[in-house]
Amino acid sequence: MEFSCKDFKVGKCEGQKIVDGEVMPLVLLPPEPNKRDLELLLSALRNNKDWFEQMIIKNSAVLLRDFDVNNAVDFNDIVETCGWEDIRYVGPAPRTQIHKRIWTANEGPLSEFIYYHHEMVLIKECPKKVILFCEIPPPEGGETPFVPSFKVTEKMLKDFPEEVKEMEEKGLKYSFTARSTQNDTSSMRGRGWEDAFGTSDPEEAERRANALGMDMEWLPNGGVKTILGPRPLTRVFEGRKGRRMWFNTLVGMYGKELSSATFADGTEIPRHVVERCGEIIEEESIQFKWQKGDVVFLDNLALLHGRRPSLPPRKVLVATCK
Ligand SMILES: [Fe+2]
Repeated sequence: MEFSCKDFKVGKCEGQKIVDGEVMPLVLLPPEPNKRDLELLLSALRNNKDWFEQMIIKNSAVLLRDFDVNNAVDFNDIVETCGWEDIRYVGPAPRTQIHKRIWTANEGPLSEFIYYHHEMVLIKECPKKVILFCEIPPPEGGETPFVPSFKVTEKMLKDFPEEVKEMEEKGLKYSFTARSTQNDTSSMRGRGWEDAFGTSDPEEAERRANALGMDMEWLPNGGVKTILGPRPLTRVFEGRKGRRMWFNTLVGMYGKELSSATFADGTEIPRHVVERCGEIIEEESIQFKWQKGDVVFLDNLALLHGRRPSLPPRKVLVATCK
């Protein structure tokens, strides 16, 4: 596959890593410093559509930098030019639509770490691409770290072959509690069920939850416990070199106040296994410093991503695609 493309120049960024011979993220800059116009970028994306998508899959992450991308309208133009279909967000994060396909990334407090995840990993149809745009870079912290998922599987298999086999065979079961029907932006998991399922009718919410492969248990306080499982530990996707992705949310949901992760038969997973997995994820993490106007494309089938705590202000917007 042709690596270079005359409409972009390959650049570098702080924090880049070479993983299995591939640079992550691949940084694409304007071909010349005076060619940073949004219109030129849009035509470059239009003219190199297949190449660009192949780069996202090959390198798992592509960072467009130094182009004139100023706001949600510009970002939406980029997303629409790429041409991948929109997918509606389902999950616990409080989000607001800004413009057409563009949403705030997560309105939970900036001081909290949003733990690594594949976007919508527990939903039947999850996005293939997560696209993020930095309108206001944080003064300190606030990175969007990401992790090549197959590396986590590799290391876990090495450290815990038996436990991985057992998790793989039994599958995992998760639970998540939405405390009340009120959205609570004081927590990044504060979405009430009404907003999460787009209805205030409990029966309809339950139908929608079931359609997404979840069971619901209503709680006396008006909240709801959502139960999912069995779900796989790892998955292999077409076109990703046969890599076994760590396609679960074990570490993020294990043993928390409002969530849990167990074997699908309900038995506990040993704590030290989950803790070591958390260390591995951090060891394999890649992060760059956001610059104003950055647009990053993540292969959601190949990468976990998160958000580090940040000082305000920080404005990063998101679009998710099929
Ligand atoms: Fe996310």
